This record gives sequence, C-alpha cells and structure tokens, in this order.
Amino acid sequence: MPIGSAQVRSQSVPDAPSARLKGRTYSGISQAKSLSKSSSNSSARPFAYREAKATKNTSLYCGKHSLAALAKRYGTPLYIYSADQILERLALFQEALIGRSHLVCYAVKANSALAILKLLASEGAGFDIVSGGELQRVLTAAPEAAGRVVFSGVGKTAEEIDQALGADILAFNVESEAELTLLASRAAKRKRKARFALRVNPDVFAETHPYISTGLREHKFGIDIRQARRIYNEAKGNRWLTAYGVSVHIGSQIRSAEPFGAAMERVAKLVRELARDGIAIQSVDAGGGLGIDYHAAPSFDPAAKVQEYAAALTTALGDLNLTLLLEPGRFLVAQAGALLARVLYVKHNGKKTFVVTDTGMNDLIRPALYQAYHEIVPVTPRGGRATVVDIVGPVCETGDFFARDRKIKPVEPGDLVAILDAGAYGMVQTSNYNTRPRPAEVLLHGPDATLIRRRETMADLLGPELAAL
Ligand code: LLP
Repeated sequence: MPIGSAQVRSQSVPDAPSARLKGRTYSGISQAKSLSKSSSNSSARPFAYREAKATKNTSLYCGKHSLAALAKRYGTPLYIYSADQILERLALFQEALIGRSHLVCYAVKANSALAILKLLASEGAGFDIVSGGELQRVLTAAPEAAGRVVFSGVGKTAEEIDQALGADILAFNVESEAELTLLASRAAKRKRKARFALRVNPDVFAETHPYISTGLREHKFGIDIRQARRIYNEAKGNRWLTAYGVSVHIGSQIRSAEPFGAAMERVAKLVRELARDGIAIQSVDAGGGLGIDYHAAPSFDPAAKVQEYAAALTTALGDLNLTLLLEPGRFLVAQAGALLARVLYVKHNGKKTFVVTDTGMNDLIRPALYQAYHEIVPVTPRGGRATVVDIVGPVCETGDFFARDRKIKPVEPGDLVAILDAGAYGMVQTSNYNTRPRPAEVLLHGPDATLIRRRETMADLLGPELAAL
C-alpha cells in the first residue's frame, strides 16, 4: 500500500462516525471523519478529524478532546490513551466467549500504566505478568485482582516466585522443568500449594516479525510439548503442586486465527492425554498475540477479528469443559493510544526532506527495533500537496526514525503530529537514552482527561546517581 495513502483517504472519504459518537454532538464541533472505518460497531481507532464550527478549522480529536488542546495543557511528547476504546476492546473478548468459562488476563507488558490496570480490573479483567515488578503494579492498582493473575516468563527468580505465592495468584505458567522444581521447593517452604500450568511449545509457525515469534522449538520459550505429559505425571506426586492448566503463547502481532487454532488443537490433545492419566486440567491459557492492522485498512474490523479468533480456539477445544484464559496485550491497547509530538525543524539534505520532531526512539522504539510501521498524521492539517519525507527524532542515532520516505501533508515547525497505534509497547519500552525524560501520559475517559503519569524531571533522572558525587 502506498505510504500515507490511508491517511489521505481518511480525510476524503466520509466515514460513518463510530458507534460511540452516534447521536452525540459536542459543542462547537460538527462532522467527524474517522481515521479508519469498520463495518461493525467497534472502530479501529478512537481518533477522528473534526471541524470546529466557529473557526472551520479541522483538527484531530479523541472523543470530545482536542489533541491540540491536550498538547497545550500537558506539553509534548505526550502519550494519550482512550479508556473508552480499551474497555470496548475488552468487551469484544468477553462477549465473544459468553457461555464459556473464561478470563481475559491482560498482558501487562503491553502497557503497564497503573490507571490502565485499574480500569481493566474494574471490568473484571485478570492479568498476565512476567516479573515481580509487574505483580507489584497489579497489586498497587487493583489488589482485589491478585487471584486473577497468571505469571509467565522464562526467568522467574526465587524472590519473584515467593512474592507471587504470597499474593496467592491464580497460576504460574512454568517454562522449564528447573522452574517447576524451584516452584515446588518455594511452595513447600511457605506451606502453600502452587497452581501451575506448563507453558508448552507447540512447534507452530506463526507469521510475524522474527523477534516476536515464540512458538517454535528453536525459541527459548516454553517446554517441548512432547515432554509435557511426562512432566505433569512426575509432578503428580508433589503435594505442593497442583496441575491447574496448560498454557501456550505462539508469538505476537499474528494476523490470522489459523495458527492459534493449530496450537490449541495440540494443547487439547495433551489435555485429553492427561485426563487419561488421571490429571484433571481445569484451564487452558491461549496466550496473547492477536494482531492489529497498523495500516488501518478500511476492512479492518476488530469485532470480527476477535470473533474469528475465539471461534478458532473454541473449535479446537471441542467438548473440553475448561476455563479458557486469554492474554491479549496489543489488541486491547495499541489502537487506543497515540504519541503526540511537535515538529521542531523541517530540513532538506540534498533530495531528502527530514521532519525533526521533539519525540525520539527513546520514546517509541518500535520503528527502530522491528522496522514497525506507524501511521503519522498532522493534528491540524494544512492545505497543499503531500510530499515524501522522513520523520525523525532528535536522538543521535541513524535508527532514530518513525517513518522513512513517507507521503505526508505539509507540516511546518511548531505543528503537531500524532503517531498512531502507539498504545502498546510504546511507553513500556521507553528509555532515558540521551538523558531524555520520559513523556507524560494522559488517559481520556468520556469527558475526563487525567494525567496518569507526570512527565519525568531531571531530578528523576539524576537522583539515583547524586549520592556518589
Ligand atoms: N503472553 C505472553 C506470554 C507474551 O509473551 C506476550 C507478549 C503476550 C501474552 C501479549 O502478546 P500481545 O497480545 O501483546 O501480542 N515489543 C513487541 C511485542 C513483544 C511481545 C512479547 N510478548 C512489539 O512492540 O511489537
């Protein structure tokens, strides 16, 4: 797809406003042109261009919130998230599994903002964590959700296991025999039974970026599914271990439902074998990984995607009467978020034009790390022809770019741009490289805008080192 064309199209095709906005008019605002179209009630993105009645200026909004006003109030770079969309996405999973015992365990690693964890917990979500730090976040934001936590990860320490046993989490997704041995000994020491699931590696290929594919035997994740039956049987004799489930996670940003179904078929076969061995498994955990459309093709329909995904899993499970756990991360939060930045300079080097913004790879590393595509749109579009530019940050690395050879409407220094679909693996992968403070974060919920994390200060950055001077 030609770069930038989706953005141009979104401004010229009169899309239906999203269901959430139907029947509502906000003062001074008319006409909504959504940045993506969807055939169902679930919109792909919560951002839309609107025309202010008074000024006739078209500008980007999230619900009733003007992004330009948010930038003025909170500064840039700024992460903004739509709580409404996050809840809509959670509901898609919950509704797709109505009638079947299930729990959506949000993958905290995708976006671990305390306010977002609290929001999701309030609607019944559980959590998938991968560190003691993430457990601490869940316990801080939503202590009542401790019993809805599953603990994944290949390198759990004894301290982390103790912390999770103390919190009485739902289950440990165990990734090696050595980890199971350690879990048993820590549980015995605390005299507290540990519920575990073996994370099996189903040897299923899922088409995605090599860095985020995990379900093949050559990857470091999980236990070879052919060894799992033996390990469950060996654990039977241990009074401190309860074989609660079987878990699997084949990778991230997977666009087709097919590999999820294939992996679940292998898991279902294992569960049946274990039943014959007298091991009654109570849950299967399908992991995360359902992908979004970063190009936001008009046909992308989140509700249909979730339906298709849930159908692939439930078909593979057949008549097995188990609790189905899911660990979505990206699908819940990616499209709800944008990174708002200001253009500092527009410079020309030979034939190339560089748009230099005040946000860099330290604030959003996905393009540099995975060659990831993020759509970038001007907040208040100017007239004139779109041109081809590189959109880059101020960090001293050639890899510090957000888009290369991208067709974008004209922008000038001082203009705002929004980097879309940045709600997942954005803020959580930030760093202080180049001694740059991390961005602030704002959560938009209906008419409310809440600063959920203040911008870092130099004191935050230098503090840990000052004692040594
Ligand atoms: N469960 C487990 C065990 C995982 O390892 C992951 C992601 C998830 C769930 C959630 O997957 P999701 O639904 O978000 O695809 N930083 C990369 C993504 C790394 C994903 C790691 N594991 C990115 O920016 O694309």
